[in-house]
Amino acid sequence: MNDFRRQWEDVREDALRVFESVGRSGWYILGERVRRFETNLSAFWGLGETVGVASGLDAIEIALRAAGMRPGDRVLTTPLSAFATSLAIVRSGGIPVFCDTTEIGLIDLDEARAALRAMPGIRFFVPVHLYGFPLDAIALRGLIDEFNLICVEDCAQSIGAADGGQATGLTGLAAATSFYPTKNLGAMGDGGAVLTADAGLAEKMRSLRDYGQTAKYRHSEIGWNSRLDELHAALLDEVFLPRLTGWNERRREIAARYVERWSSTRVRPLAVEPWGSGEWRPSWHLFPAIVPAGDKLSLLQWLHGKGISAGEHYPILIPDQAGMQGANSVSFGSLNQARSLAAGEVSLPIHPYMSDADVDHVIAAVDAWPQR
Ligand SMILES: Cc1ncc(COP(=O)(O)O)c(C=O)c1O
Repeated sequence: MNDFRRQWEDVREDALRVFESVGRSGWYILGERVRRFETNLSAFWGLGETVGVASGLDAIEIALRAAGMRPGDRVLTTPLSAFATSLAIVRSGGIPVFCDTTEIGLIDLDEARAALRAMPGIRFFVPVHLYGFPLDAIALRGLIDEFNLICVEDCAQSIGAADGGQATGLTGLAAATSFYPTKNLGAMGDGGAVLTADAGLAEKMRSLRDYGQTAKYRHSEIGWNSRLDELHAALLDEVFLPRLTGWNERRREIAARYVERWSSTRVRPLAVEPWGSGEWRPSWHLFPAIVPAGDKLSLLQWLHGKGISAGEHYPILIPDQAGMQGANSVSFGSLNQARSLAAGEVSLPIHPYMSDADVDHVIAAVDAWPQR
């Protein structure tokens, strides 16, 4: 799904220079490099404040806590995502309220409206721009305004994605993202950030990531140790962020090639339209495809046999995970659409170091998948 060896060949010189320079600086935690990266990521994203943290999971949790979520608060979210989306809610005592997705795997905002009407009093909302597919920014704005929601957008997969010219993460109160290595902007280890236009919220999050400190050894809250380190900040800032736009463009080219050359009728790309209008610009974190119910394992095994590392995002809905059974959560409605995606989605490889020949190899392998 990624080719970190090819990536290393590309970034090696720049990365070694960064190691040398951070080593020489003698400063490893919360210093100038973190500040510089935060400034540059803010400029890239168009959100005034960035707070670097230790992971995407922490980014969501710290944003929710800083925004006022307390134990027992219900948080509307999607059942189809990385487990971390709900784990962030549960770890701070929140109660996820799951509502169904659309056909392309994004939380269904009409279902969300129905859930909010049926369960008055829900104040928090964590939608996910899954696969790098941006949610409809106008519809999202409408829902937030109608119910006065505090919204933390999970942008772990959507850095660089936009709908109608608006980047994901600009509609809600805060955008949480991850620098896990496989992400579009991945580090060489764990990392994450919260971005917001609200300077007061950012200040609170800077305190929360550092034991709730407001000044040295002065703790005003129960916080975390969730600090982005200098080395990662410098790598992200000087090596990876300058390449991100080009990487995302390459992902778009690959997605376009998949769609243009597609011929299989048993397997179909999950999202083709409205892509192409130019208004909907996914970051193509993943290239999800759909297979008939019951055929997923067979396609995965076939592709693996051809040396193609296809994946599943995600095979089990969050409320169905064993780890959630002891946690408080609410499912609104059947979640049937999300469940059918969990049963039939296969992610094909897409990453910036894939060649056109690699893409054609995957398409040919899908075409050659034998009938049962
Ligand atoms: C949608 C989504 N949310 C949250 C996360 C959590 O990020 P991290 O792995 O950095 O904690 C991830 C990454 O795995 C993700 O894909």
